[in-house]
Amino acid sequence: MFFQQVADGGCQSYVIGCAESCAAAIIDPALGQIDRYVGIANREGLRVRYIIETHTHADHFSAARQLAERMGATVVMHRNSPAPHVAMRVDDGHLIAVGALRLKVMHTPGHTRDSMCLHVDDRVFTGDTLLIGGTGRTDLPTGDPAELHRSLFARLLLLDRETLVFPAHDYKGRTHSSIGTEIDGNPRLQVRDEAAFIEMMRGLNLSAPTHLTEALRTNMSGGKTVRQLLAEAALGVPFVSLEGLAGRLEGKRNDFVILDVRERDAYARGHIPGALHLARGQLELKVDETFPDPNLEILTVCELGKISTLAAATLRELGFGRAVALDGGMKSWREGGFPMETGEDPALLI
Ligand SMILES: [Fe+2]
Repeated sequence: MFFQQVADGGCQSYVIGCAESCAAAIIDPALGQIDRYVGIANREGLRVRYIIETHTHADHFSAARQLAERMGATVVMHRNSPAPHVAMRVDDGHLIAVGALRLKVMHTPGHTRDSMCLHVDDRVFTGDTLLIGGTGRTDLPTGDPAELHRSLFARLLLLDRETLVFPAHDYKGRTHSSIGTEIDGNPRLQVRDEAAFIEMMRGLNLSAPTHLTEALRTNMSGGKTVRQLLAEAALGVPFVSLEGLAGRLEGKRNDFVILDVRERDAYARGHIPGALHLARGQLELKVDETFPDPNLEILTVCELGKISTLAAATLRELGFGRAVALDGGMKSWREGGFPMETGEDPALLI
């Protein structure tokens, strides 16, 4: 068996492959590690057949859809998963064949309704059902402490004590544990009484994970994160540095346009000298009357340098092939002590 654990902060993901056939699966891939998974598969000569998610993650961004597209693999989740990009839905007791390997699905709801563990040979991938010295929380959407109690005590913990435990998270740098070690030492598993277990889980009072809504939105829909959207826009846009723009202003060059795409009041409070104003929300509607010449060099500016990147990408898509964005935004411009001007755009006052 080929096996490699890939950590991304506290998130643990796994590449598991059949040594005979070179078929492989990736379990719980994280968006920030796409190049690593591709690199591992290439280096080891693995053909990744399945991307398996142990559950709908609420705390990090899944790479499942992107990896599946890139590797020609099938996304596998429990049948309760809401994600539309899941191509193979599985249920308790099913075997996922990865070459000669057989990953046995154990439906273990509780952390989420679609949680499952994957048991193969000497190890079990426990997702967030069982962590090292802990369990997944049960207070996020579709969580249920009674179901988690059942999944642990009536299912997972009945596996052989020697079975190795590989969870979806560990924040202390530990790689794995075993069922026996967890039964003996995991504080939450010492509370075997169902009512007491439920009370303990309900009383945890944990703070919501950062990016909760964005993670659920992207992981449940297969949509993009805001960061991805910006990164993709940035791939097709050249940037001009703050100093570069300042130099051009000093040279009093008038062969390009600075376009401030913030809201009107922000522009009036202070903008780059000579900048025109067209709010991002009006860009597509007013671009033709504002800029009749598609060969014009337009340099977009916003507060933080993100919306201006989207604006420059939109302008390029519309045919303004010389659209560029400021590398940074008005915040950095002000903090850098570069020249400012106040007041409305004269064109708006006509
Ligand atoms: Fe989770």
